Amino acid sequence: MRDINQFTITDAVKASFKTEEGSRFEQLLHGLIDHLHDFTRENQVTHEEWMRALMFLYDCGQISTPERHEFILLSDVLGFSALVDMINTKGGATEGSNLGPFYLDNAPRKELGCDLSDERDGVCVLVHGKITDSLHNPLPGAVIDTWQADAAGTYPIQEQTQGQDKMDLRGVFEADEQGRFWYTTVLPKPYTVPYDGPVGELLRAGNRHAWRPAHLHYIVRAPGMASITTEVFFENMEYIDNDAVFGVRRSLIAKLHPAKVAKDLGYKTDKKPEAVVEFDFILAPQG
Ligand code: BEZ
Ligand code: FE
Repeated sequence: MRDINQFTITDAVKASFKTEEGSRFEQLLHGLIDHLHDFTRENQVTHEEWMRALMFLYDCGQISTPERHEFILLSDVLGFSALVDMINTKGGATEGSNLGPFYLDNAPRKELGCDLSDERDGVCVLVHGKITDSLHNPLPGAVIDTWQADAAGTYPIQEQTQGQDKMDLRGVFEADEQGRFWYTTVLPKPYTVPYDGPVGELLRAGNRHAWRPAHLHYIVRAPGMASITTEVFFENMEYIDNDAVFGVRRSLIAKLHPAKVAKDLGYKTDKKPEAVVEFDFILAPQG
């Protein structure tokens, strides 16, 4: 390797790893080395820029905990998370979108028609829809797990020190035999992703804001089908066209209908809604 130079180093680094030929690991590792080296050569990266980048990653690591994962946030604001979601959405299924940091895998089971808002202030909305396969066949046993921010744009889990119950504004529903689900909740508000760390510094350096449009989070599962993790947004809401983490897709934007629509639906609910949101989820077969 004595004759190594800025053009031969890429192959030398790849060859130094004794990876299984043709393996996925080799493909990803070689691709990463190729792109990183091409980027460095194309931009003639200086020592100062190289060290600045490494210090930025170091700073991200300094505040990365299970609750505050700065590297995932970095992936989100760079559109990396969204790109992975897009690539991995199955044909015919509802498009995937951000999981975000506030999911809990042990949310309480709730009855269809119940109210998730626990007496919180805000506009009461009926959320309803169907869970089907791509041929519109209802999926028996489909389960919908939802979580969201309140009408001030805060997730209860963020305010446990102020006495909020972290399980508020979330629940798991089993769809009925026609694949239908319905519940009422409070209309969430936009909120910012955390911007007091290195990722916030990056946003400010690029003259970007940290806001996300109001949304509802979902994981939808059904036996034999690939589960989906996604979000539902609302038409004409603030930040719908410039989500800080690129989670919005046209197909994930729901209309807000007036309350009178609820009457015709005939669903029994614990609370009277002031608006109605309809969103259907489509799952594709596993594998
Ligand atoms: C969220 O939607 O909850 C979220 C997504 C990305 C970063 C921060 C929050
Ligand atoms: Fe969220």
